[in-house]
Amino acid sequence: MRIGVLTGGGDCPGLNAVIRAVARLSHDLGWEVVGVRAGWRGLVDGRFAPLGPREISGILPRGGTIIGTSRTNPYKLDDGVASVRRNFEQEGLDALVAIGGEDTLGVAARLHAEHEFPVVGVPKTIDNDLSATDYTFGFDTAVFIATEAIDRLHTTAESHNRVMVVEVMGRHTGWIAVMSGIAGGADVILIPEQSVTIEQACDEIRSRHARGKDFSIVVVSEGYELEGLAEETEVDQFGHVRLSERGVGAQLAREIEERTGYETRVTVLGHVQRGGSPTPRDRVLATRYGLKAADLVHERKFGRMAALHGDSIVDVSLKEATAELKKVPKEWYQVASAFFG
Ligand code: F6P
Repeated sequence: MRIGVLTGGGDCPGLNAVIRAVARLSHDLGWEVVGVRAGWRGLVDGRFAPLGPREISGILPRGGTIIGTSRTNPYKLDDGVASVRRNFEQEGLDALVAIGGEDTLGVAARLHAEHEFPVVGVPKTIDNDLSATDYTFGFDTAVFIATEAIDRLHTTAESHNRVMVVEVMGRHTGWIAVMSGIAGGADVILIPEQSVTIEQACDEIRSRHARGKDFSIVVVSEGYELEGLAEETEVDQFGHVRLSERGVGAQLAREIEERTGYETRVTVLGHVQRGGSPTPRDRVLATRYGLKAADLVHERKFGRMAALHGDSIVDVSLKEATAELKKVPKEWYQVASAFFG
């Protein structure tokens, strides 16, 4: 067999670990593995790269993706889907392993449903917002980085008696904010799923001051709906606005300072959360996902995605995984809010 591997959407730590695992098992089975360059763009344009034993050597701990990525949506390009199918055939590929989030895997699900395209999926994203899996790889690393930042901000907040606002990624879900906030002992966490107002957040900060704690850490997710914030209008090929452009953290910091009178600063973590080496947990998860994806190809179980259920790696349908976003449930927010104020 000749297997293509593609990484699409925003990069995240662990992509190379998946590529390595897919390739290692495939090589052992006597298959050839080919990297598709820059996500779906590579299949639209017919750009490939070999993924032999030499290419995958030493990549396990490396961040990013050695085959590149993009936010290309073939369904938004003239002749895009036809080009994908044509180049796939011309390259002599028998199957594709698509590693991505809701967008990349949404395209995979559609190609499989509409054209019986032989694709299997691997759930990637720092946002952890993909349904049908307990965790995506990349998330643990992002939470680790955000937690470390919160720890560092704590000491400077305390020295200056300041409120520190930390803006984290996560798009329309607050997974990174909630988990790093719990781990870092945040005093308030604001996420898209919970309608906590600025005034309520300020009350939590005031109540800390009232009991002698005159510094606070506020973690805000980039997608939190802040009253009066101008909406971004420019969208990418998947219809997403650039949430970082809204400046929710900066606006929140201004509001908190104005309403409470406490000196406030903002830190926007940005792409630092996606860069660098994956945590051991993400390396292990990515490796298990990669092996499962190669198994699924071996069994010709196309239209399926590797997923984590409890401690087991299982397979679920790509359609189910991409049907809706996995939001932070109330119970998780309650764990975090038990420590507010
Ligand atoms: O989906 C991953 C993610 O990092 C989101 O958390 C964030 O909103 C978005 O990608 C940023 O995208 P870009 O890298 O295109 O700026």
